[in-house]
Amino acid sequence: MEVDVGTGAEAEPTGGGATMGAMRVAVTGTGHVGLVTCVSLASMGHTVVGCDADQEKISLLRSGVSPFYEPGLDEGLREQIASGRLCFTSDREEAVRDAEIVFICVGTPARLNGEANLLAIERAARQFARHATGPALIVEKSTVPAGTAGRIQRVLQLERPDLAGQLEVVSNPEFLREGKALQDALHPDRILVGASSPRGFEAMRRLYAPLLTNGCRLIETDIPTPELANHACNASLALKISYVNGLARLCERAGGDVLTIAEIMGADPRIGRDFLDAGLGYGGYCFPKDLQAFERLSSRLGYEFGLLREVVKINEEAIDAAVEKLRDALWNLEDKRIALFGLAFKPGTDDTRFSPALALGERLLKEGARIIGYDPQAGANAKEELPGLEIGIGPYEAAAGCHGVVICTDWPEFRALDLHHLKRVLAFPLVVDGRNMFDPREVRAAGLAYYPTGRPPVEPDGLAG
Ligand code: UDX
Repeated sequence: MEVDVGTGAEAEPTGGGATMGAMRVAVTGTGHVGLVTCVSLASMGHTVVGCDADQEKISLLRSGVSPFYEPGLDEGLREQIASGRLCFTSDREEAVRDAEIVFICVGTPARLNGEANLLAIERAARQFARHATGPALIVEKSTVPAGTAGRIQRVLQLERPDLAGQLEVVSNPEFLREGKALQDALHPDRILVGASSPRGFEAMRRLYAPLLTNGCRLIETDIPTPELANHACNASLALKISYVNGLARLCERAGGDVLTIAEIMGADPRIGRDFLDAGLGYGGYCFPKDLQAFERLSSRLGYEFGLLREVVKINEEAIDAAVEKLRDALWNLEDKRIALFGLAFKPGTDDTRFSPALALGERLLKEGARIIGYDPQAGANAKEELPGLEIGIGPYEAAAGCHGVVICTDWPEFRALDLHHLKRVLAFPLVVDGRNMFDPREVRAAGLAYYPTGRPPVEPDGLAG
């Protein structure tokens, strides 16, 4: 994978305070964020050691294979390993020993009460402190609640009083979208750095010098601000989605068209068209978890952020709405067989964590329906998460003999489906479109009953009743 950011070694210092130069970096945690951080920093010219406790994962990574699907990642991984700038180890001491900067990219899963579980962060900080041999920065990359950097700093002080003032925490949150993560890492909209000393800011400017010279905006602040901003950004995107889904519910009752409303809203640059696609709602490993964690953090700090709770509620109602449409068309759901098209939480990934498709699948199983899914990438992960789900080898094979299809994920290839053929293989000609992918006129021409999201349904002649 060629990147157009240049390497630290060959670039010149800039007038904007960005000093070039390859740095020694360690990255703890090689999940979606960690691995993309490894590959992108190595392609900027830095020497990077990726570290993960999972030995199997490390062996896979050493052979140049990513444990998950992300466009361009396998190629980037192989290229950076071959360049000698990227390697992997399961030994944290080895990773951290000579690093100038250590990124923490470990998971922060939700606890039962919705708060982020920060145990892996604490452990990573403790081990970093134990193995540090001199001045170094520890950088929060994973999404963490405000106050986490303060906690990490305390661990560093307690573990290594001998390195007082030399080990420093920096906040540098990620804004990576799955499916576009490498592109986002190499061409970010902005780089956000929270630090408490000039040394911290200077080191981060050196690290990101190749991106800064390319004109990327750098925002430098105190430490709590980026911690809060990361949650704030994810929550405002989720808020837009829930807002448009709330409008979809209203359109379904009043007879309006939410797609046109989204266009009208989007024509106002103050609102913007992005993240106004109504559908089955948001999923994935960020929004659902971050929304809850943000709301819990806020509540713990004494501010009841009811708006965030409402965002979550409306997101859950999107699943209810799809179930209601199926019930409306099929009457009882027991004994019915439903095909789910798209199982990943969004297109371009095989990630099924908190996927709306699986939330719907689980609901339908509870209602007594049988479900079969098809996804271009995520079939195996979906089956593992929801064993009651059958997996079809193709869309028509999955739909064969079914009483309806629900479009759950907007994979572009679904737009090219032959709707006439789909009708022929279905036992009952019904499409519930949880992503508004089809032109209602084409669905009508194919003779399918069509329930889009927040748009008027299409009932082909002769099917009513
Ligand atoms: C998100 C943020 O975009 C990223 O900046 C952050 O760092 C991590 O979380 P990601 O989880 O990869 O990235 O997915 P994103 O593309 O934001 O989509 C999230 C969910 O919202 C998906 O389930 C998607 O289908 C849904 N979505 C998105 C909608 O339902 N409607 C929309 O208009 C947009």
